Amino acid sequence: PDPRQRDHDDKDRQLDGFRAAPQSDALTTEQGVRVDDTDNALRAGERGPTLLEDFHNREKLTHFDHERIPERVVHARGAGAYGYFEPYESLAEYTCADFLQEPGRRTPVFVRFSTVQGPRGSADTVRDVRGFATKFYTREGNYDLVGNNFPVFFIQDAIKFPDFVHAVKMEPHNEIPTGASAHDTFWDFCSLQPESTHMLMWLMSDRAIPRSFRMMQGFGVHTFRFVNAEGRGTFVKFHWKPLLGVNSLVWDEAQIAAGRDPDFNRRDLWEAIESGNYPEYELGVQLVAEEDEGAFAFDLLDATKIIPEEQVPVQPIGRMVLDRNPQNFFAETEQVAFHTANVVPGIDFTNDPLLQGRNFSYLDTQLIRLGGPNFAQLPVNRPIADVNTNHRDGYGQQVIQPGNSYFPNSLSGGCPAHAGAGDTSGVFRHYQERVAGEKVRVRSDSFKDHYSQATLFWNSMSDWEKAHIVEAFRFELGKVGSAEVRERMVANLSNVHGDLCAAVAAGLGLPAPRPASTVHTFSSPALSQENLAGNGI
Ligand code: HEM
Repeated sequence: PDPRQRDHDDKDRQLDGFRAAPQSDALTTEQGVRVDDTDNALRAGERGPTLLEDFHNREKLTHFDHERIPERVVHARGAGAYGYFEPYESLAEYTCADFLQEPGRRTPVFVRFSTVQGPRGSADTVRDVRGFATKFYTREGNYDLVGNNFPVFFIQDAIKFPDFVHAVKMEPHNEIPTGASAHDTFWDFCSLQPESTHMLMWLMSDRAIPRSFRMMQGFGVHTFRFVNAEGRGTFVKFHWKPLLGVNSLVWDEAQIAAGRDPDFNRRDLWEAIESGNYPEYELGVQLVAEEDEGAFAFDLLDATKIIPEEQVPVQPIGRMVLDRNPQNFFAETEQVAFHTANVVPGIDFTNDPLLQGRNFSYLDTQLIRLGGPNFAQLPVNRPIADVNTNHRDGYGQQVIQPGNSYFPNSLSGGCPAHAGAGDTSGVFRHYQERVAGEKVRVRSDSFKDHYSQATLFWNSMSDWEKAHIVEAFRFELGKVGSAEVRERMVANLSNVHGDLCAAVAAGLGLPAPRPASTVHTFSSPALSQENLAGNGI
């Protein structure tokens, strides 16, 4: 037998012949001893004190006392489901990712949808960004696409994330608000960080109050990189599109639902799957040839910018169906650990400074949230690919390591060896990118253009959508106590569009300021024919 086989180790083999016949409904202790009474603690006499000797009572209370783990620092409230993904066609020309090679070959997935701001017990239908995180259990390891339902983000650099989240979360003195963005610290931060303006336009739109998780888009946000078998890279942006179309609540509905049924979105997902109405999404990609990296008015590494679909069309590459609810919310939806750095051969990163920080942050936070370094062994996180590491020990270790866990090793078997230079199949090799430069804290100039795409978004809205955006700004800013913050935010909006600014200002009883003279605009160089042709998929 394979000495590295995890689910049937030597201990299991030794004990196989000795197992008692299972008694599935018999209550036992953690040690497998049957319990006589779980309702009455052992006591000295009918009216006497409870005895420490009652190990079942102590174990029961101790386990209960330790039931809670820290909730996620963001995206604490969520709902998950299992399903599968299947590509329409082979993407071998662009990526060697195993799960994108064969049309129709299914890869199992687990998806978790979430709100960002509120704690675990907050309401579903608040105005907020929604997380859309997908774990693909591929044959070459787990790939996580950890996205949101908006294609851009609030900040351009992960170093700002702690400040941003401190401003977004409940205020520290009174823990208010638990589930809405309407508060001073959030608007203070955003008004002082105008790079958030494009994202704010999405957040004040109806996209921020989805009717259902089954009816919202998902985006990878960052520019990632496909790498094919020859090592050629192609920039890629990921898009999920729901089969049911994008549908939102209107604000009054969202507020009523938050009161009547705080589980509105969670229940909808659960019930749809239970009744066989399986949610379905199409995965699409925008592909940009490496030589066109500089062909845009913005930097592909800037997560506050989209690539307009008029410039690079979205090409559908496959579909995902969610067809099974989890059995146990805690074990699966709560303990699932997504990480942007969980990539597989054929998918790689770019130098987007937001992505680079995320690649550090998720593993780091999971080490505390999930109690040590062995959470990848939990059922929902376990890959279907073989796992052979030289890691040793740690809290919650489930694996009885056969070897002595080091490499190179001439003394014992069971210590896995790395692939080496000649072995190419299914091995992750980092994309070879030329990097050169001074150690600096600056980014390319177009990162300073905070408004062009916010304006693009505003201009793309119908009249009623614009009206909803104005109402949302008025509602949210109307709750801000600081006049200075309200005025600064309205001044920022003057750089997006005069109509938007005037309408919001009027609602707040403020004069509409003129646009600032420092607004950056950038023109777009021509794209290569390859991009315009949509890369021919
Ligand atoms: C959690 C998306 C930016 C840190 C999440 C989740 C999603 C997500 C979907 C929930 C995962 C789940 O369901 O378990 C995004 C997107 C971002 C972004 C799309 C920007 C494009 C960042 C940044 C950081 C960060 C910049 C830090 C530098 C975290 C942390 C968690 C989290 C610490 C909690 C993870 C856990 O406890 O398992 N994010 N995020 N995120 N995100 Fe982000």
